[in-house]
Formats: sequence, structure tokens, C-alpha cells
Amino acid sequence: PVPPMVDALISRMTLEEKAGQLSLMASAWGGTKAASLNPAGAGANFDQQVAEARQGRLTGVFNGNGAVMSRIMQEAAVRESRMRIPLIFAADIIHGHRTIFPVPLAEVASFEPDLARRTAEAAAFEAAGAGIDWNFAPMVDVARDQRWGRGVEGGGEDVLLGNLFAAARVHGFQGTSLKSDRHMLACVKHFAAYGAAEAGLDYNTVDISERTLREVYLPPYRTAIDAGALSVMASFNEISGIPATANRWLMQDVLRGEWGFEGFVVSDYTGDEEMIEHGFAKDKRDAARLAFLAGVDMSMQSGLYRDFLPGLVRDGAVPVARLDESVRRVLTLKSMLGLFDNPFGRIDPKREMARSMLPATRALAREAGRKSIVLLKNDGDLLPLPRSGKTIAVIGPFASGQHDLIGPWCVYGDDEKAVDLLTGMKAAVANPASVIAAEGSGVEKPLDGGIAAALDVARRADIVVLAIGEAQNMSGEAQSRTDIVVPAPQQELAEAIAKLGKPTVVVLKNGRALALSGAVRDAPAILVTWFLGTETGTAIADILFGVESPSGRLPISFPQESGQQPYYYAHKRTGRPNRKPEPDEYKAHFRGILNEALYPFGHGLTYGRIGYSDFRLSAPSVPMGGTVKVAARISNTGRRAAQEVVQLYVHDRTASVTRPVRELKAYRKITLAPGQSEVVEFTINSRDLSFIGPEDKPMVEPGLFDVFIAPSAESPGVSGQFELTA
Ligand code: IFM
Repeated sequence: PVPPMVDALISRMTLEEKAGQLSLMASAWGGTKAASLNPAGAGANFDQQVAEARQGRLTGVFNGNGAVMSRIMQEAAVRESRMRIPLIFAADIIHGHRTIFPVPLAEVASFEPDLARRTAEAAAFEAAGAGIDWNFAPMVDVARDQRWGRGVEGGGEDVLLGNLFAAARVHGFQGTSLKSDRHMLACVKHFAAYGAAEAGLDYNTVDISERTLREVYLPPYRTAIDAGALSVMASFNEISGIPATANRWLMQDVLRGEWGFEGFVVSDYTGDEEMIEHGFAKDKRDAARLAFLAGVDMSMQSGLYRDFLPGLVRDGAVPVARLDESVRRVLTLKSMLGLFDNPFGRIDPKREMARSMLPATRALAREAGRKSIVLLKNDGDLLPLPRSGKTIAVIGPFASGQHDLIGPWCVYGDDEKAVDLLTGMKAAVANPASVIAAEGSGVEKPLDGGIAAALDVARRADIVVLAIGEAQNMSGEAQSRTDIVVPAPQQELAEAIAKLGKPTVVVLKNGRALALSGAVRDAPAILVTWFLGTETGTAIADILFGVESPSGRLPISFPQESGQQPYYYAHKRTGRPNRKPEPDEYKAHFRGILNEALYPFGHGLTYGRIGYSDFRLSAPSVPMGGTVKVAARISNTGRRAAQEVVQLYVHDRTASVTRPVRELKAYRKITLAPGQSEVVEFTINSRDLSFIGPEDKPMVEPGLFDVFIAPSAESPGVSGQFELTA
């Protein structure tokens, strides 16, 4: 409900003040990290921005720096502006504020949405303590092309996981009361289908059927909104010819009409103005009109709303009632955040420091780090490594040093405060001197004499840990890659090290799936460690030395080659599916390879030895509206405790719209002691078998379904079939 005070305010506001409430700007405080708590760090532009707050020309700022800045601005707004309306402070708290958690994609590898809820809650605790009311997260764009750099911020390639993590993150950020100084407003982004950009090129065109949009891309946004998110960010891309920023169908019919969304929509950074470049808006005024009338309530950074909305209303091009509607939404949210009751509720410099990087928050980062790591391969049980009696060489550009630890999109994080791999490993072994290191190579450029020096170090060791992969600026916004490989100089380093014949563990740093080749692909053990944040080195060491068995599973498919992109497990069969092991010439394949993953979605090993057996189905057929139970026995025949992510996939054999080869419908994460086994049972409801039919509406059709209980999307696991009857 709209508080009565909101309409009372609106009735007294000028058109310029109303447009001001719909205009959000990047903070002019100056360098976020450097300025810290020192007002002297602020530049001249900051004074100008404070003046705008005083004039009521600003609804708030984003990515500013801390409580001292917020206090200066908030005082100008609530003590000196005519309407005394408080500002809102926003930021990109994508995976942590000062304590940095694993990148969002990494956390999805845990298959534990509650872990993401806890890290989101901890991030909100630090950020809200630093004066931040509104978070530009979660990013819930399904991403099926690994060339796209922003997949690192999202929920991976799968719809079920995307939904679960979207809801968990909203719950973590927002808590149960938006007024709480431990929580902040979530912003679901980027609406919509930003991750479906052609060729994985960031900002590129999206041309997509309504069916795929509804079945694959829209569900996580909807789930986040159903979980209570009250703001949405429009995406930069166009969708089938209409920019998302001016897409009435998306914002009015779907978001508000079908989903009942009651919060407000903000554009992405200058997204409204960019419609001129799209060739959709004639000029800035036209861009403001198109975005606003389509349903974007607030404009980010372009200034178009404050420059043009008052005139558009005066000229009759925008009804004043429409302007009031957006202002009402924004002021209602400010009221829900408690900003009218206490504009300084989240602004307290002492509390900001008192909440920063507490031991419990760091411990959570370490736990999240461990759970995000995926063990792709462990030939001959090379892992876990011994804690004593061996010399271990850590080699590669990511072996040591305060860089590339926290990952992309950390506005307030600091690599200097994170633990690197060498430090983490030295702390884990009996004799720190037994862990030796060499850089070997730059990330994308060779290092003079680097390989020779690395070989010298490796020769002195019994085991090599090769820390290679992507730098943190190789994924994230605008970081699309054509060839998703380990950069050439590092590949060369890996080939040279392999020739020594030492047992080698590859520790990959990556913000996307990589196409592994040569010595990297052939190494006996491979760990995917993404960007794990503040506790990078400690978390990786916990896994390397067996403090915990790896329990992460891939939330994206690792292809065999870059050219397979976009590659995702839930693809269609085609009329000419290929058979293993060799590609058939006139069947769907690329020259020389079958179109399947090197490591599929859902894959990940543990230090135990897991087996699947005893598939059981409660009935061979199930009537429409009924349920069927499927079960399998999962056993750990290894010598170490293990966690297994038991996955349930379904394949609809024949339908009035072709169906993917497999779809993840449920999973269970279980812990098995050595020698233990457990029967895991799932219930499939006929509703779970629905799909978007020929009329672009959900439907369930009778027919035959294959069902698999498996450790990954492309593993046979154990399976059977049942019939859904009319
Ligand atoms: O929140 C981000 C968005 O994801 C990309 N453009 C800039 C915004 C604000 O920083």
C-alpha cells in the first residue's frame, strides 16, 4: 500500500522535482576505494552533486563511498531541499561488500541455494552498515554461451538452478524487513534475456522466440520477483527488434500484468540514451519518452528524465498521471526502506567499520569458497595432497600475489586483503618451506625467462600445482572472448611442465567454462576454482589437502572446443542426432568431434568413490495430475567421506513442441561416509513435466518420458521410463 504521505508529497511537487526523483546518478565522490572514509578525497564534481541533492534534482547516487559521503549528501537532501525527500544510496554488491565471496557463478556450483542466501545476507550486513540501501543484484540472466563475460555474475545455464539461486539471493539481500539496517533492496537484472546476446558479444542483439524466452530466460526473473524483489533493471539489449528499455510488452504485459510486479524499474547505465544508437529513438527527448512510456520508472546516469520529462509533460506527450505513478513507486520504496522515518538509519561511519570483514564473515567466505570448487578429474587419486613429506611447487601467474583473487565486479573489495594460493598452502602444510613457487608466465603475455625459472623450481619438487587460467578482468562486463581457452603463454608453460613428468594438479582460475587442451586437459588432476574472493588461498588449500572433499558441480558445461559455443546440456536432439563413440558423417557434429561436453553440466568428483545402482520407479505409468516416485541407491565405496549431488533428469520423448535431450528437474546433495550407501527418492509431479506449448502457454501432454538419476547431465547414471496418461 502507498503511504498517504507519499501522495501528499506528490501533490506539492513541481514537475522538475518529480523528474528529480526519477534520476539516479553515479556518485561523484571520486575513486571509490581510495576515497574511503576521508571527505578530502572528494572532487569538485561532488560539490556539484551535493548541490543537485539540495535542489531536489536527484533521487540518489550509486557506487559512492561509505557513510561519510552518504551523510553529507543525505543532509543536503533532507535538511536543505524544498521537499526534504531522502536520497537512496545504491551499489553493485555482486558478491560481497568488503568481505568478498566467490563470484556468483561459483556459488551456484555448490548446488546449495542456502549458501548463496547466507552470503547475500552477510554482504547486506556489511553494505547496509556502510549506508547502502539498494543493491544492483541479483543478476539472474541465464547464460548459455561461454564467450559472454557476464555469465560469471549469474546462475549458470540451467533454469532450475537459476530459479533457486535467484530466490535465495533476494531473500538474503532483503531479509524479512526492508527497514532493517542489516538488509537492502534487491534489484533483479537485466530484464530481459541479456545473457542471450548473439555470439556471446556483450550488449549484442537478442533475437529469440517467445517460447524460449518464456521457458528458459524469463523464469529466474519471475522467481526473484515472487521471492519479493521490488526493483528491476532493464537490460541493454534489444529483443527481436525492440530494445528492452522501451519494451512495453516486457514491462507492462509480462512484468506488471502477468507477474503482478509492484516495485519500480530502473534503466541500466545510459540504457535509455543508447536507444539512439540502437536506431530506435530519434534523439534524447524521444529516448526519454519511449523508455518512460514503456515502463522504465527511473533513469540511470543519462540525466534524460530530469532534462526532458518536465517538458514532455508540459507538451502533453507524457501524461502527468504517468509521471506521478513512477514517482509514487519510488517514494513508496523509499518509505518501505525506512528512509522517511530515519534517513540516516543505515548511515553510521562507526558501524561501517565495526561490521567490516568480521572473522565470522571471513569464515563464511572460506566455507563458500570450499563448496564452490569443482574437481573435474583426479586420476590415480593424486588429490588430496599430503601435508608433509613432499615438496610442492606452485607454479603459474596465479600461484602467488595479491591479484586476481576477488574477481570481477568488486566495487569495495580489495585484493590486498585476500589470501593468495601460496599463503593458503603454506599455512596448510607441516613445513611451510616445503611449498615453493614460481610465476612461469604472465596471464596473456610470456614472462622473460619465466618458463626456465619455473622448470628449475618444479624440478626441486615432488608434486606440481599449476595455477593458471583467466585474469579477473577477462570476464565480467564487456569481456566477451572469441576463444575460451587458457591463454597461449600459460598453455606453453603447462606443456613445458608436463614434460618433466611430475604429478601435476591444474588449479584453474576462470570466470566462465574453458575449452581445455593439451597438457592442461591431460593433467591427472584438475580443479575449477573460479574467483573465490577474500579466502581464495585458504579455501583452495582446504580442498587440495583434503580438509574437505570437493562437493561442487559444474553449473555450466565445459566444451571440448570454443567453436561449440553456445553449448549447453539441455539442447534439442535435431533430426540427425549423433551416436557415440565416433561422429557419423551426415549426423549433427563438428568435424572431428561429437557435439558433447568435455565436462558436462552437473559434473564434479569427490575424494570418495560414488556409484549409482538399483533404479526404481513406483509405477510404469502415471495419470495426469498424479505423481510417480523414482529412486536409486547411491554408494560411497571409497575411503573418504563424500558429498554427492544426485541429479534427476527427464526427457520427454515426443511432444507437440520438441523437447531438450534432458532437463534437470530436481537434485539432492547428500553426505556419505566411507562404505555408506543411501536410497535417494524423488517425486515427479505431472506439473513438473510442463513446457511452453505451440501457443506460447504452459501445457502438460501425455506421452513417454525417460528419467535418469545421474551424477551429471551427460552421464548415463541409472534410468528408466514411464508414461504419462491422459
Ligand atoms: O548494475 C550495473 C549493471 O549491471 C551494468 N551497468 C552498470 C550498472 C551500475 O553499475
